[in-house]
Amino acid sequence: MPSVISSIFIMGTLLLAVFPCQSQIKVSGDNMSTLDSGQNQKAIPHVQNTSTQQYDAFSKWLHWIMAVIIIYATIAGYGMLFVMDMPQLFHVLSTLNMSFATIASVLLIVRWGWSFFRKTPELPDTIPNTQKSMAKLAHGTLYLVMFVVFVSGFLMLKHEYPFFWLFTIPNPISNAEVNAFFFMVHRFGCATLASLVLLHALAALKHHFVNKNDVLKSMAFNLSKLSRS
Ligand code: HEM
Repeated sequence: MPSVISSIFIMGTLLLAVFPCQSQIKVSGDNMSTLDSGQNQKAIPHVQNTSTQQYDAFSKWLHWIMAVIIIYATIAGYGMLFVMDMPQLFHVLSTLNMSFATIASVLLIVRWGWSFFRKTPELPDTIPNTQKSMAKLAHGTLYLVMFVVFVSGFLMLKHEYPFFWLFTIPNPISNAEVNAFFFMVHRFGCATLASLVLLHALAALKHHFVNKNDVLKSMAFNLSKLSRS
């Protein structure tokens, strides 16, 4: 069982390296085509004028649930360094971190798979092409670093761990040297992820407050719509 889980993780990482994520289906107002509706429907596409400017609700939920988990785990992970002399608190924080990370690992696989099927909104035309490419590269790198952080976190475990105190999940590798290697990978990965997330969030805020475009809105929930339903 542990080797099956670790094989899935390793295969996922390899797949990610070969296909560095991001949706293959790009839809904008200009190229989104649908079939004519009506009695004599034929497979003749026509151009529709409704541009997709928002991520779908599923992508938004995945994005924000994972953002909360990753930001919490980063703060709690570094915070744990300050409570090393309080074993009970350390154990609680560690169990919570590993349990949330387990959920986030599963969500990451779902999210990565979904990114190939959903319609990804095009960035506004006011953004230069190089910057659009940089954004795609940044998102792909975020996926890759998230994978590295979760896989290394799992492989560095010396012992089994309780999932929210409900049941135990076995550690896949019990070799002190291998665990120590993945601990280093995990440390480096976490620092890289924290820096990337900070840059990513600052870029999103710059789009909203400085460039005053709809990039942040594309990932935001429409709160007025939510409160009406
Ligand atoms: C306060 C924090 C955050 C803000 C304000 C934010 C904002 C956004 C926005 C506006 C987009 C759409 C940008 C575009 O289409 O070019 C986006 C996409 C994305 N964000 Fe964030 N984000 C935050 C946290 C995170 C975190 C913690 C992660 C994961 C480590 C993350 C990973 C991604 C990824 C991978 C995408 C590409 C779309 C996708 O595949 O879901 N974000 N974010």
